[in-house]
Amino acid sequence: MSPRYAHITGWGMAVPEEILTNDDLAKIVDTSDEWIFSRTGIRERRIANSDQTTASLAVEAAQRALEVASLHPGDLDMIIVSTSTPEFIFPATACIVQDRIGAVKAGAFDLLAACTGFVYAVNLASQAIKSNGSTNALVIGSETLSRFVNWKDRNTCILFGDGAGAFVLQASDEPGGVLSSVLRSDGSGGNLLSVPAGGSRFPVSMQSLYDGLHYIQMNGREVFRFATRVLTEATYETVEAANLTMDDINLLIPHQANQRIIEAAARGLNYPMEKVMVNLDRYGNTSTASIPIAAVEALDQGRLTPGDHTVLVAFGAGLTWGANLIKWTGPLPPTRRKVSPAVYRRFARIRSILARLRRRIEGFIWGNG
Ligand code: ACO
Repeated sequence: MSPRYAHITGWGMAVPEEILTNDDLAKIVDTSDEWIFSRTGIRERRIANSDQTTASLAVEAAQRALEVASLHPGDLDMIIVSTSTPEFIFPATACIVQDRIGAVKAGAFDLLAACTGFVYAVNLASQAIKSNGSTNALVIGSETLSRFVNWKDRNTCILFGDGAGAFVLQASDEPGGVLSSVLRSDGSGGNLLSVPAGGSRFPVSMQSLYDGLHYIQMNGREVFRFATRVLTEATYETVEAANLTMDDINLLIPHQANQRIIEAAARGLNYPMEKVMVNLDRYGNTSTASIPIAAVEALDQGRLTPGDHTVLVAFGAGLTWGANLIKWTGPLPPTRRKVSPAVYRRFARIRSILARLRRRIEGFIWGNG
């Protein structure tokens, strides 16, 4: 059997309309635009409104990615939503997305590797495709971190923003796509960045609420030191695994956490900043959504074109870190008549209502016992 390759054939992003600037933050906590920008490179971030959720942003990004790929949602066989801010502990946010886009033949699950999650998910989907376990996969990174941030803690509330990005991965005999990946973790550093309460270890209680343990806690300095080291290491390792050198890499797309971390990584790699994608000034740290959002903007700006090699590299809570090396291709020829995603979305809603109705009728006929 000829080898299969996993190509990125569709991409999309969605960010809330509401912008929170550094000056806005300075009205809430003791900080300034000068402090935030000089320490992080962030100018503003997007904040979800009360109607927007991790799933709704994910659906919008997914819809755009499917449109670029000209792929019918019914042809998807796998949906991975990478998120640290799922809608519920269960059901998985991926299942909500599956229902809303009408991906009737897809398995769907969430993946949690914090800001490294998208890199992990791209690797998982590409391995599934290469081993014949999947043909058309949808990978989404989506976050509403604004709901887990303590808006009184200036150490953390200045960093994060909301948003989503998605890739469609498809099988092809043509060489290219995801060429190599590196995934790493070090749980001994789990305490450096966490949301301590709300899981099974410390269920939410009056005490945990009082202590603010349901908010993001971070040791910024330690995370900073860890990040600068692992971004360089993971990039080198994934480039080496693909038998390439840094000279072959046209664009580096790092996790958008901090301008100084990104610059330190570029220095460590001896790689020019002109070839590094940075857009954190406008979105802040959107965790697992930051890489696909940066990739979509790089594509829109013509900084990533077919035939280019790009490295996606990330670090995050866990601790986790990793990288993917991708030979960029673009959409494959459509497999069937294109369906307007907006129209299909309406059908998906009707189908979902009918499925619920069927369950109620079955319950009525057969009883609930
Ligand atoms: N405004 C003004 N002053 C501040 C602010 C603020 N927003 N935040 C902290 N300070 C103060 C501190 O209180 C401290 O004052 P002190 O010396 O009197 O105690 C001083 O500024 C210096 O604080 P540091 O923590 O040393 O500042 P640093 O230069 O390290 O920058 C930062 C802090 C921006 C958080 C940095 O450490 C960082 O970016 N770390 C990495 C964080 C990160 O990337 N996290 C995301 C990981 S990805 C994921 O999985 C979610």
